[in-house]
Amino acid sequence: MKMKLLDGKKCAESLVTDIARKVTGYVESGLRKPHMTIILVGKHAPSESYVKSKVGSCEKAGFESVLIRLPDTISEAELLERVATINNDPTTDGLIVQLPLPRHINQQNVINAISPEKDIDGFHPTNFGRMTLGQKAFRPATAYGICKLLQYYNIPVKGKHCVVIGRSNIVGKPISIMLSNDFDIGNATVTLAHIETPRELLLDETRRADIVIVAVGIPGFITEDMVKEGVVMIDVGINRLENGKIVGDVDFEHVAGKCSWITPVPGGVGRMTVAALMINTLMAYQNNFNLA
Ligand code: GUN
Repeated sequence: MKMKLLDGKKCAESLVTDIARKVTGYVESGLRKPHMTIILVGKHAPSESYVKSKVGSCEKAGFESVLIRLPDTISEAELLERVATINNDPTTDGLIVQLPLPRHINQQNVINAISPEKDIDGFHPTNFGRMTLGQKAFRPATAYGICKLLQYYNIPVKGKHCVVIGRSNIVGKPISIMLSNDFDIGNATVTLAHIETPRELLLDETRRADIVIVAVGIPGFITEDMVKEGVVMIDVGINRLENGKIVGDVDFEHVAGKCSWITPVPGGVGRMTVAALMINTLMAYQNNFNLA
């Protein structure tokens, strides 16, 4: 099987270029730029790197971005107050609170406090519920990014058997819903496997899957014997090894030869998460100015 790479960097750049073109038009017509605010609590190396790439992408898209750094000693009440202030600020279109938060802060309380109109991560129950019901909503960025990548490479999804491994609220759960919904990139038959799925059942599913999406955070989790020839492999994992190398959840070296398409790590899904956030921020902005 001649394997082809799903190049997230190339796809993301193309999407951000399209967004930048639209923003130029809006600004030339006298409107302000779209504006993203990011709250980063404490110091967490992966979050630092994600936030850096979000800020960089805003620059490329012609958005304003503000990064608010808060100490990890901040109380939940103080953080909720900061969120409320940004909710009420008409110059911010989209707000991200970077996860994970320190353990003394209840993550769901903070997500629930973000105004659904500014929730470009799509994590608020209102957006998650609307997305699940097939209504217009901000869609969770990593899941949405995967859909955009499949679309960019014209990979058929409708009618395919898709296996998602990992049921997190930020990736596995939303992508399983989105691909099974009657969306433009959807109408697949989806199995959602997770930590309690017996090994034999998991193998039965992955071995007949047309598309496998893995988001478990375990290097080398997907091995060659687990998939069929011609599978489309989407690797959401971003794992840092002791030698500093970043790898996904797929044993790329041995699995890639069996795939029709596969995402590299880095340069695959990670890039698409940021691009999808840009799409969501532009949508928040367009909503604010009645542009679409
Ligand atoms: N941490 C890891 N991924 C994400 C994400 O998509 N959004 C936020 N806010 N935090 C994250």
